[in-house]
Amino acid sequence: MGDLDSFLQDHAHAERKVATSALTLAAQQSQKPELVESMIELAQEELTHFRQVHDLLRDRGQTIGQDRPDRYMGSLFKLLRKSDVNEYLLDRLLLFGIVEARGWERFRMISLAMSKGPVRDFYRELTRCEARHHLLFIRLAKRYFAEEVLKARLDELLDREAEIVSNLPFRAALH
Ligand SMILES: [Fe+2]
Ligand SMILES: [Fe+2]
Repeated sequence: MGDLDSFLQDHAHAERKVATSALTLAAQQSQKPELVESMIELAQEELTHFRQVHDLLRDRGQTIGQDRPDRYMGSLFKLLRKSDVNEYLLDRLLLFGIVEARGWERFRMISLAMSKGPVRDFYRELTRCEARHHLLFIRLAKRYFAEEVLKARLDELLDREAEIVSNLPFRAALH
């Protein structure tokens, strides 16, 4: 809260990147119409968020700034199993879902810590969106994978994610 501009800049790039990732996933999964449609919808919504964070920064006399490396996302990507297409898809859906859940937690914390104003209103609204996005990825994972396979892998990924989070530096950023 002491460096809201840096947080907003980091958040702006996170929205931009998640929109891009959703479109990439849609392009790679053309044989799964439900997934493609969901990713197009998600990308549009995340792009709107990018625009909204951009506008908040502009109104504060700031720019979106430089995209700085995100150690959290970088470490999560290393958990993807790339040798098998199905495993790769499952991991991506579950990791995207985890990232959305973390967004939900962070935005909720921010909206609770803030005093009245447009920024608080914005984060309140985003809290609702990210909870929905988290559920979307879980629903998609259930659509294409057996529940026990999904649960076992989610459990593993959450353990690994907890290790990653415990080693992150404290900074004014989404992760
Ligand atoms: Fe978003
Ligand atoms: Fe989201």
